[in-house]
Amino acid sequence: MHFHILTLFPDMVLSGLKTSILGRACEKGLLSIEAENIRDYTKDKHKKVDDYPYGGGAGMLMQAQPVFDAYQAVLEKRAGAKTARVIYVTPQGRLFDQSMAKELAKEEELIFLCGHYEGIDERVLEEIVTDYVSIGDYVLTGGELPAMVMIDAISRMVPGVLKNEESGETESFHENLLEYPQYTRPEVWREKEVPQVLLCGDHAKVDAWRLARSVERTKRQRPDLYEKYDLPGRALLWLKQDRLLHMDMLENIRRGRARVLCVREDGVLLQDKGNGLYMVSAQNRDAGERLLSLTEPEGAEYVCHQRFLADSVAARFQKETMQVCLQAAYTRKTPFAEDLSYEIRALDETFTEGIFAHYHAFYEKEKLRAFLKEGVIYGAFLPKEETARKETETDRTDGAESGGTGQVLAGFIGTHEEGGMGMLEVFEPFRRRGIAQALETHLINRTLERGETPYCQIFAENEASIALQEKLGLKVGAKKIYWIS
Ligand code: ADE
Repeated sequence: MHFHILTLFPDMVLSGLKTSILGRACEKGLLSIEAENIRDYTKDKHKKVDDYPYGGGAGMLMQAQPVFDAYQAVLEKRAGAKTARVIYVTPQGRLFDQSMAKELAKEEELIFLCGHYEGIDERVLEEIVTDYVSIGDYVLTGGELPAMVMIDAISRMVPGVLKNEESGETESFHENLLEYPQYTRPEVWREKEVPQVLLCGDHAKVDAWRLARSVERTKRQRPDLYEKYDLPGRALLWLKQDRLLHMDMLENIRRGRARVLCVREDGVLLQDKGNGLYMVSAQNRDAGERLLSLTEPEGAEYVCHQRFLADSVAARFQKETMQVCLQAAYTRKTPFAEDLSYEIRALDETFTEGIFAHYHAFYEKEKLRAFLKEGVIYGAFLPKEETARKETETDRTDGAESGGTGQVLAGFIGTHEEGGMGMLEVFEPFRRRGIAQALETHLINRTLERGETPYCQIFAENEASIALQEKLGLKVGAKKIYWIS
């Protein structure tokens, strides 16, 4: 990796960076660090690089021309290579952290611009800078120390720079945890003993002890970091306090679809990564308000797990449609014996029109086409002969004939994007013969095969559906959830 530093103090940065581990990495050719003295490019006969700010004010500003010419000189030296990011180190920039160090370490080349005095003429910044970065909320006398800090942190993420490849990952800030306490010989020092677990030789025990200390330390010293630590794990823990009420949220996380936006002691807010749906549960109004304030209501849908949240969403964001549902979940692990009287298989996009004709309450046609392409909608088929009598009776308002296969589609079921089973429809001539049950058990089995917990959300007043779920052995929750769109 190549670093170029535009500075008024090249000796300062080079002597600081070319020693110890980074010095060794430069010798090995893993890094190159070069400094360009901005003063060498001034056209002023007294070698001046600064002047007074227009409009008055304290201090001096670095002029555009020498900075720009120093930058051009760097570009010429690296002729042919693709453009490099130019980082201006400034207290006005984005805050530098470990994840930024990791991201920047993927670049082949970086150019750092170090300011002095009160700053640099804005016009040259507009011309050359790609990133504005600060190392903290305090002001230093110049950009050299911040540039050195960043180059050090970035370099140690470059493969091969650290002797032990692992240590770049396991130290503080990895996964938003601070590092655990470490001990070396002697075993007893000033009557203080090394914790016994570290001497036991059981790696699993040592790892568990270290993780617990890291969590404890992060909670105490850096509550802001702890907030970001293991959001999915902490959300699951909270949601499991009422599994049935939260089955949709639990499954959304387990299936890797959830962006966990916030976990509090009194509530959780998720967003489905695919369709942007917000899922929220809170113990009280205050927690609910705080969680909802983190959402972007424009065009969004919400599933609220308490009535007060639903009322708040509706009032705050002028959302009009509210649907009240119950959650039902199949919590056993054993699959059903499949009902072989119907052939059930995934439908492809040739069924788009047929499905859309029966099911347009929630999805637009193109969305249904996408589901069909994905293979998440299953259809139940009957042999054509068997349906012939029914067809004449009903004028064929039912589903499409399956071209050339001698079969007729009698109904379908699918999995909604955020994870629930639904879209269940059996066409009129084929009702009351167990097709809904056959479709649902089929989908439950497919869901179990993926190691997921099958669940669905039923309209609270749909007694027929509640009865079907109970008959199939799903647990139906007593608490209501509220869909707001
Ligand atoms: N220049 C002066 N103070 C700075 C800071 N905190 N971060 C980056 N550059 C700076």
